[in-house]
Amino acid sequence: MAVLNVTLYPDEPLLSVAEPIPSITPKIVKLASDMFDTMIEYEGVGLAAPQVGVAKRMFVVCEPEQAVQMCLINPVIVESEGREAGEEGCLSLPSVYADVPRATGVRVQAINEKGEALDFRAEGLLARIIQHELDHLNGVIFLDRVDLLTRQDKLMEWEERRQRYLEAVKER
Ligand code: NI
Repeated sequence: MAVLNVTLYPDEPLLSVAEPIPSITPKIVKLASDMFDTMIEYEGVGLAAPQVGVAKRMFVVCEPEQAVQMCLINPVIVESEGREAGEEGCLSLPSVYADVPRATGVRVQAINEKGEALDFRAEGLLARIIQHELDHLNGVIFLDRVDLLTRQDKLMEWEERRQRYLEAVKER
């Protein structure tokens, strides 16, 4: 069990486009396992590799009911449908929330950490989580998907929280 440090916005590599993973090495398998541990420790429903400092195209998600966990490597959304706003937060900007418009359903292709090919449809919260995490692989955060005024507002809120958060960490 290894809980990794979560990178806070706007630290790198959160703003970068992550690299594809050419093959599933033991290092990638270990990273997947550590990312599951980290997501659970922080009570997140999704965590992307750039959030633990690794600029690679991979993320882990929990099904909303937490029954199923998945690691998606080199994921691609091949179809999407519908559009709906819903509240999102992010472990890289803790305690900041905003309503973000997303597709209500997506079809996703990826491989998992066992090298198995996945091709499935997701709806509702799981579809939202997948879109949020996939954005992280392209250097995009959820606040990049809201209107400019809200974005500015929330980023200011985050900047204050971030300062307090960093000070609290320093004092510990
Ligand atoms: Ni996030």
